[in-house]
Amino acid sequence: MSAPARRREPPALPNRVLPYGRQVIEEDDIAAVAEAMRGDFLTTGPYVGRFETQLAKTVAANHAVVCANGTAALHMAARALRLGPGSKIIVPAITFLATASAPHIAGADVIFADVDPASGLMRPQDLVDALHRAGKVDAVFNVHLNGQCGEIEEIAAIARAHGAHIVDDACHALGTGYVCDDGHVTSIGANRFCDLSVFSFHPVKAIAMGEGGAVTTNDPAMASRLVLARNHGMTRDPQAFTNIEDAFDADGVANPWYYELIEPEFNWRANDIQCALGLSQLGKLGRFVARRRALAAAYDSKLAALAPLVRPVARTRRCLPAWHLYAVLIDFEALGLSRGQVMRRLQQHGVGSQVHYYPVYRQPYYAQRHDVGPLAGADRYYARTLSLPLFASMTEADVTFVVETLAGCLA
Ligand SMILES: Cc1ncc(COP(=O)(O)O)c(C=O)c1O
Repeated sequence: MSAPARRREPPALPNRVLPYGRQVIEEDDIAAVAEAMRGDFLTTGPYVGRFETQLAKTVAANHAVVCANGTAALHMAARALRLGPGSKIIVPAITFLATASAPHIAGADVIFADVDPASGLMRPQDLVDALHRAGKVDAVFNVHLNGQCGEIEEIAAIARAHGAHIVDDACHALGTGYVCDDGHVTSIGANRFCDLSVFSFHPVKAIAMGEGGAVTTNDPAMASRLVLARNHGMTRDPQAFTNIEDAFDADGVANPWYYELIEPEFNWRANDIQCALGLSQLGKLGRFVARRRALAAAYDSKLAALAPLVRPVARTRRCLPAWHLYAVLIDFEALGLSRGQVMRRLQQHGVGSQVHYYPVYRQPYYAQRHDVGPLAGADRYYARTLSLPLFASMTEADVTFVVETLAGCLA
């Protein structure tokens, strides 16, 4: 059989391609990391607690537990909720793999919920439908896609009435706010409508740690379990020791070398170098979020000329989004172009783009375990979505360039 004809390679890339997302690192971030590296501890040192205190303050949570990355944070959340074999969780179909896979690796079965085709967010009715299919569910992992949250109060009410815990996958949503039914504004991460919130500090996110993540909670028992889940499931707390003879000296003082295993866990720690960078970046969150909002507003107005073929994702009513991604919905069918063609053309003209996300329930591994047919809302969102460049060091001129390039590529 002859090999299929190879398509022609696209022309050479221009010198500069605007990526869909990237970190903003300034001289004081570099100085903060250098300072940490001159210290006595590169890991389990003072920057870990400092970062946690500052993050908890930033999102108005009682406790923050920092860790290696957002995936580790999701795994720790699953462990803290005691999810394991026999547990069931609900995850919206449009998200990154880790929202499903981290709790699944902990043992939970995943039931995928559909989403709003216009925003990519799980709606209350999507949750009701998924609960109906699932039977008894232990936890709902909700996702604040692109930095936007949906009807989180209604979703919390439904999950709680069912007896399920709620984890917010807020990896996109550090800095996002929500106007509650009672008129108060709460931060995502404050856990007013969930038990745990999970963050990622990957370089494309609102702040960068290289790799980094965290879980916030208001429940001290949950915070203790998160700390165990981060560090081998071992404790140095004498009150928790059960091997009394080995743990304590004859005079009743705990032996200095002794630690005790409660339940085996991984090492999901973040080190002091990461935390020093995170701490420095956290101080800039307000500026970064304001910039992202201004750039998103500039996109909104400049893209109006391309409607209805190109539209920003639908905005939810009560959210004050800290836009992580600037996603648009493009009617590729009406344009007679494939998304791949458009992405390649954009790239050739200096504009990076990405798709967030291929529905996770369609991944072969999960498709084999999926309980119903297609999830129409997720498929429709996926068919049209494209993320355009958005990061805090972009200028309005960059936005104009992206919109004009997109218009040209769609022509
Ligand atoms: C929604 C969502 N959840 C979880 C993760 C995992 O975070 P990390 O890459 O820090 O492991 C990501 C990262 O892209 C994400 O976008």
